[in-house]
Amino acid sequence: MKEKIDLLLAQTQAMKADTAAELEALKVKYLGRKGIVQELFQEFKNVPAEEKRETGQRLNELKDAIQTALDALKEQLESTTSQSHNATNDLTLPVDFSDLGARHPLSIVRNQICNIFGNIGYTIAEGPEIEDDWHNFTALNFPLNHPARDMQDTFFIEKDPDIALRTHTSSVQIRTMERNKPPIRSIFPGRVYRNEAISARAHCLFHQVEGLYIDRDVSFADLKQTLYYFAKEMFSSDTKIRLRPSYFPFTEPSAEMDISCNICGGKGCNICKGSGWVEILGCGMVDPNVLENCGIDSAQYTGFAFGMGIERVTMLKYQINDLRLFFENDVRFLKQFEEG
Ligand code: PHE
Repeated sequence: MKEKIDLLLAQTQAMKADTAAELEALKVKYLGRKGIVQELFQEFKNVPAEEKRETGQRLNELKDAIQTALDALKEQLESTTSQSHNATNDLTLPVDFSDLGARHPLSIVRNQICNIFGNIGYTIAEGPEIEDDWHNFTALNFPLNHPARDMQDTFFIEKDPDIALRTHTSSVQIRTMERNKPPIRSIFPGRVYRNEAISARAHCLFHQVEGLYIDRDVSFADLKQTLYYFAKEMFSSDTKIRLRPSYFPFTEPSAEMDISCNICGGKGCNICKGSGWVEILGCGMVDPNVLENCGIDSAQYTGFAFGMGIERVTMLKYQINDLRLFFENDVRFLKQFEEG
């Protein structure tokens, strides 16, 4: 009988239960009313008197060892089931929306600009950010070695022939006119680069939307009405515009457009520096030389172009006072633009 008890003790060490049912079966097998331990107690009656003391002790030890092993298995089973429950299976937990991102403010405003012009029939096109001299300068009527090329500090990638990061989206005007016949009515959103010191008001990389309209009999009045419509849609219906004479090599005449300050309503504040007006874009009638450079007959066709900085429009729209915020991707800034 002693050997039997020793064998059972060894078995106890190896007991395993993966489910509550398996555990219950072990309990019945060893400690049940007709179980192994109970059977041994029956046999114990037949043990010779001189061995009773020792065998009885061993039998009690076995019973305790089995109980301890079963308790340990029970605890193990409970902790693993509660863990897996927490990790994946609790369908009653509330849904966690905290990982949803927000659209970047520059994307929001770019999309708005595209929609405003889309509503009056403008298509959208894009061009490369790495540009050759022809598309960024020469075709746009910048004469070779003319100081106008210094208006924009250029990041050159290669010299002779010159390859550079485009300094404006006007390069896409050229690409579009080279490939399409009038009428052309398109806008060109994109990233541009200038070698400027980074500050609250300037960056070496920013975004523009260019607009181009070429057809027969397009006049300056069309330009003015189109931009007036845009300003009212973008800011508010009581926004006023003002065109000031300016100079760009690729437009003649050229102008810069101001809108009535949307922050103080034109009364004068620190955003408009007390003037009541803020500049938002450059524009003009496409220079006949530019049309000819792209194979468009300037005797038959005229057109206008305009170009605006998306950062500038966004800063005015959301009253953001530091351009660098757009590029830092601080979630505390970006989270403010979450929709709905
Ligand atoms: N390309 C000009 C700039 O970057 C803007 C502009 C575009 C002006 C089209 C006139 C016509 O400043």
